[in-house]
Amino acid sequence: MSIDHSATGVASTESLHTEDAVRPDPNVVRVGVIGFGYWGPNIVRNLSAVDGWHVSAVCDQRPAALARARKAYPSVHVTTDAAEVLTAPDIDAVAIVTPVWTHFELAKAALENGKHVFVEKPFTSTSAQAEQLIELAERKNLRIMVDHTFLFSGAVKKIRELVHNGTLGPLYYFDSTRVNLGLFQHDVSVVWDLAPHDLSVMDHVIQQAPEALVATGGNHLNELADMAFITVYFPGNITAHINVNWLSPVKIRTTQMRGRDKMLVWNDLEPDEKIRIYDKGVDIKSGQGLYDLLVSYRSGDVLSPKVDTTEALRVEMSYLHECIVKNRQPVNDGAAGLRVVRLLEAAELSLKGRGSLVQF
Ligand SMILES: NC(=O)c1ccc[n+]([C@@H]2O[C@H](COP(=O)([O-])OP(=O)(O)OC[C@H]3O[C@@H](n4cnc5c(N)ncnc54)[C@H](O)[C@@H]3O)[C@@H](O)[C@H]2O)c1
Repeated sequence: MSIDHSATGVASTESLHTEDAVRPDPNVVRVGVIGFGYWGPNIVRNLSAVDGWHVSAVCDQRPAALARARKAYPSVHVTTDAAEVLTAPDIDAVAIVTPVWTHFELAKAALENGKHVFVEKPFTSTSAQAEQLIELAERKNLRIMVDHTFLFSGAVKKIRELVHNGTLGPLYYFDSTRVNLGLFQHDVSVVWDLAPHDLSVMDHVIQQAPEALVATGGNHLNELADMAFITVYFPGNITAHINVNWLSPVKIRTTQMRGRDKMLVWNDLEPDEKIRIYDKGVDIKSGQGLYDLLVSYRSGDVLSPKVDTTEALRVEMSYLHECIVKNRQPVNDGAAGLRVVRLLEAAELSLKGRGSLVQF
């Protein structure tokens, strides 16, 4: 379990912390966080709380954001200059928590300087950028981890377990609703902002390459879609549907999954009983005559399995640390980020064609 601290590929030997430099303990990963806006503070809070991480620097272009960081973490170096973090020889990993259009350049510079990269969802603005970063990380034997936060929630872990141990039976559909009022983004549509959550969960649970996608939706306040309905077709007659919307008066975070034997409802807003498994189903048999259908409905117990309530980001940060020190590829690696970006690109294309079919 060791990190090669000499493999930063950086010419400069100047340290960010000349006075209280952290000794390069092979199990401590020194991280710089770029972006301390809405989501960045959650990343810094969790990195600070998980053993094995040392937050060496926080960077934000906005002085007001930096002032918040300085107040919350007085001993952490703060800077407005991302290059300082990207090239510091005493930083092993960089967390990129900035808007998506900045991810590629920042991640590329971090990898070129020998840093492992944790990057927010969505991974990049295009699949070509994602491919380039994956290739670069492989060449340099560095880890990329895309923040598909929900994969580390107790609920999604349980859902994956239930699907893979056959509790639901062969899967029929996955149907996810993520709607609320705002938060409107000025640079990305609701598809690029919210759907990465549902698409990453879908990808993690279904674990198959999609065949085709159709997306419809609309924009009402500017030129970016503020509501969308995305349908993804998988082999084996599995259909996934995702409804994302910034104009909804109510907040809904519900995913339904139906298998041949049972169905599951995940309501992420429920404090307890986030997952319910319904022993309900339909059997259809053909009768004697051509038009005879023998339909039988089954309605059995409802079960709510225990779900780990540890904050997903905390679990994710601990996992990323392990992947770095043990030199393991994370499940939410660059390839997982790329799969989601490909789906987002396809959704955008289909939206433009008012529901045109995009084949993969
Ligand atoms: N995983 C999740 O659940 C989740 C939740 C919210 C946001 N996000 C993602 O996090 C990312 C950031 O979103 P946000 O809502 O925090 O955005 P934000 O605009 O609130 O914050 C981004 C911050 O980055 C700073 N910044 C931008 N470019 C910079 C640069 N080159 N150098 C230094 N600082 C720079 C900005 O000044 C700003 O303070 C997005 O990719 C978003 O999709 C993820």
